[in-house]
Order: sequence, then C-alpha cells, then structure tokens
Amino acid sequence: MKVLVIGGGGREHTIAWKLSRSQHVDTIFAAPGNAGIAGMGECVPIGADDNKALLEFAREKKVDLTVVGPEAPLVSGIVDLFRQEGLRIFGFDSKGALLEGSKVWAKQFMEKYDIPTGDFAVFDNHCAAQNAIDAGKPPFVIKADGLAAGKGVLICETIEEARDAVETVMQKKKFGTAGDRIVFEEFLEGPELSVLAVFDGKDYRLFVPSQDHKRAFDGDKGPNTGGMGAYAPVPVLDHILEEKIRIEIIERTLSGIQSEKVEGAGVVYFGLMLTPSGPKVLEYNCRFGDPETQVILPLLKTDLFEVLYEATENNLESVDFENSDEACTCVVIASGGYPGKYEKGFEISGIAEAEEAGCAVFHAGTAIENGRTVNSGGRVLGVTATAPTLREAIDKAYAGVDRISFENCFSRRDIAWRALEK
Ligand code: AMP
Ligand code: GLY
Repeated sequence: MKVLVIGGGGREHTIAWKLSRSQHVDTIFAAPGNAGIAGMGECVPIGADDNKALLEFAREKKVDLTVVGPEAPLVSGIVDLFRQEGLRIFGFDSKGALLEGSKVWAKQFMEKYDIPTGDFAVFDNHCAAQNAIDAGKPPFVIKADGLAAGKGVLICETIEEARDAVETVMQKKKFGTAGDRIVFEEFLEGPELSVLAVFDGKDYRLFVPSQDHKRAFDGDKGPNTGGMGAYAPVPVLDHILEEKIRIEIIERTLSGIQSEKVEGAGVVYFGLMLTPSGPKVLEYNCRFGDPETQVILPLLKTDLFEVLYEATENNLESVDFENSDEACTCVVIASGGYPGKYEKGFEISGIAEAEEAGCAVFHAGTAIENGRTVNSGGRVLGVTATAPTLREAIDKAYAGVDRISFENCFSRRDIAWRALEK
C-alpha cells in the first residue's frame, strides 16, 4: 500500500517511522517531509497547506491512505476535499477541526455536552473585554479564537498585562483574524496531561496518556515552546481518575462529535488539567500532538496502518489495538536561541551513534545541505527511547542526547524527572 504523510515535523517523522514498520506499507511519501523521513520515504516539495496540490499528488500516485499531521490543512478542509473526490484520508472534516480551529466553538461545544472545563466568557468587542478586565481579578487567561501556531494563549498576571493582551490580539491583530474574538477563561491549576484518542465515528481507542514540557528551560522556566520533550505513561494518573476522564470527558466529547455530524476518522487530542475539583479540558486538538506522538507511537504494539486504515472504514472495532506497558521518553534538541531567533545551517553530528545506543532519533528541523545534515528549525531532533521503566527510558534517551551535537544546541535535562518524584 502507498501512504502519504502530510507535514514535515517530528510528529510526521514518527508517523512515517511507525508506518514504515507496517507489513502493509510498501511506499511512503511525505509532503514536504524532512531529512529524517527521507531515510524511509520520498519527500515531495508540496506545502502541507496546499490542499489542491496534495489532492492531485495523491490521485496521480494512487495513494491508498493519506495521513494529515498538522491542524491547518484540517481546518481549511482537506478532508472534505479528499472525501468529495473519493480519496481515503485520515483526519476529521472542517467541522470536526473546529474543536481546535475555534476556541469559541470548542468552549460552546463543551458547555453543550456538559464536559468539565473552566468557566469562560466570549468577547467580539475590545471595549467589552477591557471592561471585563477592570471588573475581574488576575490572573487572566485570554485565548485568541482561531489558530495562532500555539501562541494564542496568554496568561496575564496583572490587569495591565491583560489590557495589553486584549489590545495586542483584538486591535493590533497580532494573530490576524484569529483574534477577532477572544475567550476569557477561568485560571486553573494542577498537573497537565495529554490523552489522545483515535475515533472512527463510532468506536474509539486510547493511546498511552503522556505529558509534554512546554517551557524552554529546566524546572518549567523560560518561554513557552512547541514542546521540549515528552514521556509516557504518566504516573499521576490512577485507575479511578482514568475512568472519570473516560466517562466525563472522552465519551461525552466523542458522542458530541457524533451529534454534530462530523465526518471522517481522526485523532482527538485532549489537553487536560487535573485540578483539585477534578479533571478539566484546557484544549482540544484535532490531530496527533507534537511531541506526544514521539512517545505514544513507539508504545503502540498494533500496526499503525491497520489502525488508521480501519478507522477510515469506521471499523476500529476489528483492530486488536494494544499499547505496550513499557515507558518512553523523548528529549528535544533545539537550536540555541529558540523559541526566539536562532542560526541555521550547523552540521549535526552523532545521530548514528545515538541510534546505536538504542534511541530512535526523530527529525523536526533538519535539512540536508551538500550531503551534510544541518539544523533548519527551532526544534531540531527528538531523541526517543523505550524501556521497561521510565527511569531506564530517561537514561537511555539522555545517553543518545549526549552523543549528538551541533553549534549552540541545547536541550532540557529534566524531561520526565518530575514523574519519578511521585
Ligand atoms: P492551550 O494551547 O489551550 O493548551 O494552552 C497552552 C497552555 O496554557 C496550557 O498547556 C496551559 O499550561 C496553559 N493554560 C491554558 N488554559 C489555561 C487555564 N484556563 N488556566 C491555566 N493555564 C492554562
Ligand atoms: N504538544 C502540544 C500540541 O501538540 O499541541
């Protein structure tokens, strides 16, 4: 079978890697892919947002299954387009993608289907939002409605900061039309957790719960990033809590998706916070998480192609879906300066040595220049290790990290350590 993976980050490399181990898959295309995916498939120079060109490519190459990595093509309707044309694709239609594409829609959805989440108010007028700030108490959580590349959530510690945030988002249009409406949300506290479900419109299966590390530096300090590492499973989650999440959050969400007549099969990503008054949804995504995918797919025992293909047939039921009871850790190596400005083009050494040490090295921001692998993005590599215990997975991942270097590179040294304190 031929598959096309849309996207070019660490998540897509991991999806391609897992698909390359399937007994059913003989050809992998990726658009646009990256230097890591090039080792197991053919990268084609089509942007992940060029829905029409992707459709033409899939048709011309007789692709059997297209798998969408990032949210933007889902929100702009790639699944609607492929389905209209009779091409098989894994992902939700543009209505389902609203779970991620519109925070307002998602909050109203949670209200409608009685899914635990923070209290909220929606504003489409900056004067009304400013008045609400004057009447409220910090900290304020302010979210731009639309897609903002993971930067649309602003936590403001003072009234002045909140006023600036509203001005930046609604008047100065920092995120364009994504900031036409904003959500004010109750400030919540507690450990965070990512639970990913694959849903075929009828049945669902859960990947191993994981946790990512959004801040740039050790001890959860420094600016927010796309994710500096992840691990699974998450020890704060016991059986009782897991059942509560399953019943109150996952099943209510999936039956809400059915009621809203969402088409397609895809991944629902639940960004949860375990608050003193119970687990609550912070956000939904309509796709695999990055870097969560780097730790949940190595722990999936089942052939990923079977899972995704059968999901598009509304037939997850027939798949013997099984997660391993081992642990997995992914440590991201980033370019110096990230998430701010950084230099590109430095040669990376030690990838093969890290692989020899038992790690899978997933590429995110790499390129091949004159036969050398160089950094080409902020997050460069995800060094990933699986082992019987979390401690062993951590040690093995860092043994890999320590073999890799390029100028100015850095990584957090405390990925998953907090889990061991429990
Ligand atoms: P999101 O993109 O919605 O996941 O938000 C990014 C990060 O902002 C989350 O991972 C949380 O750390 C934080 N966050 C989002 N919503 C809230 C909230 N209501 N209270 C406290 N922190 C939040
Ligand atoms: N790890 C956060 C995300 O994928 O959105």
